[in-house]
Amino acid sequence: MWKNIEAAPADSILGLTEAFRNDSNPAKVNLGVGVYKDDAGTTPVLKSVKDAEKILLDKEKTKSYLPISGDPGYGVCVQKLLFGEASEVISSGRAATAHAPGGTGALRVGAELLKKFNTTAKVWISKPTWANHKGIFGAAGFELDEYAYYDASSMSLDFPALVNSLENVPAGDIVLLHACCHNPSGVDLNEEQWSQVVEIAKAKNWIPFLDFAYQGFGAGVNEDRFAVEQFAAAGVDFFVASSFSKNFGLYNERCGAITVISPSREESVVAMSHLKTTVRVLYSNPPAHGGLVAATILSDPALYEQWIGELAEMRQRIVAMRSALVDGLAARGVDRDFSFIKEQRGMFSFSGLNDDIVKWLRDNKAIYVVGGGRINLAGLTTANIDYVCDAIAEAIKA
Ligand code: LMR
Repeated sequence: MWKNIEAAPADSILGLTEAFRNDSNPAKVNLGVGVYKDDAGTTPVLKSVKDAEKILLDKEKTKSYLPISGDPGYGVCVQKLLFGEASEVISSGRAATAHAPGGTGALRVGAELLKKFNTTAKVWISKPTWANHKGIFGAAGFELDEYAYYDASSMSLDFPALVNSLENVPAGDIVLLHACCHNPSGVDLNEEQWSQVVEIAKAKNWIPFLDFAYQGFGAGVNEDRFAVEQFAAAGVDFFVASSFSKNFGLYNERCGAITVISPSREESVVAMSHLKTTVRVLYSNPPAHGGLVAATILSDPALYEQWIGELAEMRQRIVAMRSALVDGLAARGVDRDFSFIKEQRGMFSFSGLNDDIVKWLRDNKAIYVVGGGRINLAGLTTANIDYVCDAIAEAIKA
């Protein structure tokens, strides 16, 4: 069967991790995949997660199937985190949440569900966006288009162009937005800009789909939900794909959620029924462990506080690495202004390094950066920062 079939290209992000693993250079540095590393260069299991796991190990009585949409307690915890405990969305019962295998799974479930009822709709993605968005929505059968977002010359958001794009999205189309910590650019909308986008969505009647994979990595879990809150208050139909991979460090537990918000409880019941039929044919029902860990932490005040502290530590370390990189490059006499890196939010920096430099860094220094110049700041440590700054300075001057 495979004789006349060409091999598929490696994934632009996870493929880098494979190449990194196979690289024998002892100085190698992986600034590719969005996985948090501590200053020792390891991806630790959070202490709150370990403690929750101990509780769960004692309590576990069965490994029977979960419901199609996951443990109901998990859905409750997810909604409290997404909307805030006192949210009207929760009290009015107009959100339906299903546990999905990670943010990717959540996006795909949402995409499949949307495709059933919006057969001719297009999906609009930001220019640029996370590489897998194209794959996920394309695989669900959608035609894709791009809306303006990032201005490479000023290394910042091109808000007038964004507004112009979004005002021209036809009613019924789907607009994929990054709720915070835009991947790959690290450039977010401010509160006023979000409010304006919500108004456009309402006026133009397109369907917002928020990808919310980094709650807590921007300014904090409460601050980062601003966009979600604004869309909720607008009373429009919208979707949220959320993930606990990053903020709980539950990467390999594949733990995320798809939440469908409707204007009324009655519509939400219908939405949930279709979420279930969608999940059933994709993977039947979700894996249990990660969801139970997250729900245990989110429903225990002491564990919650501990987790919030651990999340703040991750966020602050990334901010410190942003400064270390900018200052390190300046100290090496690099005359290009990299100060914008300090303004960006989340795990990533869209560094402005072009693909020639990205290739040079990989070939000559075993430093792995995603094509387009996206750097995972969490891959920097006090042990490798000088090596990385030296290498980038050399590459730029070369
Ligand atoms: C990333 O953007 O690096 C992460 O979201 C991991 C992934 O699956 O691509």
